[in-house]
Amino acid sequence: MPRHLMNPLDFTVEETEELLDLAADIEKNPDKYSEVCRGRRLATLFYEPSTRTRLSFEAAMMNLGGKVLGFSSAASSSASKGESVSDTVRVVGCYADIIAMRHPKEGAPYVASLHSKVPVINAGDGGHQHPTQTLADLYTIRTLNGNIRDLTIGLCGDLKFGRTVHSLIEALVRYPGIRFVLISPQELRIPDYIRNDVLEKNNVPYKEMEKIEDAMPDLDILYMTRIQKERFFNEEEYLRMKGYYILTEDMMRLAREHMMVLHPLPRVNEISVDVDQDPRAMYFQQVQNAVYVREALILTLLEIM
Ligand code: NCD
Repeated sequence: MPRHLMNPLDFTVEETEELLDLAADIEKNPDKYSEVCRGRRLATLFYEPSTRTRLSFEAAMMNLGGKVLGFSSAASSSASKGESVSDTVRVVGCYADIIAMRHPKEGAPYVASLHSKVPVINAGDGGHQHPTQTLADLYTIRTLNGNIRDLTIGLCGDLKFGRTVHSLIEALVRYPGIRFVLISPQELRIPDYIRNDVLEKNNVPYKEMEKIEDAMPDLDILYMTRIQKERFFNEEEYLRMKGYYILTEDMMRLAREHMMVLHPLPRVNEISVDVDQDPRAMYFQQVQNAVYVREALILTLLEIM
């Protein structure tokens, strides 16, 4: 049976640390890994828009000497003719050694994994999970002190629909001394299953607030997210929420000298472009780190390393 990645919890903390160590070695010695996937293929099956995730998976496979194939919208695949994901993965498993799938329906990559003879990676399923973004986030957080512990982490924006936030919380509650400050409008608070089954159940301290300024002085990390337009039921509600948070240089003056600003991207307007100059803005570094962790993940699931 192949091994899949649907949720960050599919890897233990030890396995996650090993994967991040492998990513660090790939970052340091790219030449050592440039041919290790020769003859292997990655298929990217993207039923929902993406820039970073799809291209970074493809770049990762190319950096390892492998090849890539796939589609970038449901409209250009046989899904538009009514093919099920379970049939599609059976077919693609004849063309590729590993599959990265993004889908607007929660659980679709999981269904795919049940029918696949090759490893399936969840590259984002609806408002649910996005475990490979979490690996990039953990890798970036680890560069702050060399480890992941004793941190106050502010998560800001659309905590209801933001799948990167859900995966990141699930992964981080397993590390010691992690505290969360959940910053969102009332309407976009964290879902109950994360509050009850993840935060409360693991006795992880957290506070909820509405203003970034109130949280800022205490934070080691500020993780900004965009309002997830495509998951709203009506346009009016989205327009009311859009522009709720805009992180500015003025607000950054309230933050600690070594606070890290993260964002999974794409950014709409929730971080002012002036902040990009600030050495604490790490979101473009996060993009680079995502390639290393995806390389490490491909090698791990293909059991090459
Ligand atoms: C995120 C996603 O798709 O969930 N983007 C990404 O993969 N880096 C975040 C988002 O779309 O807001």
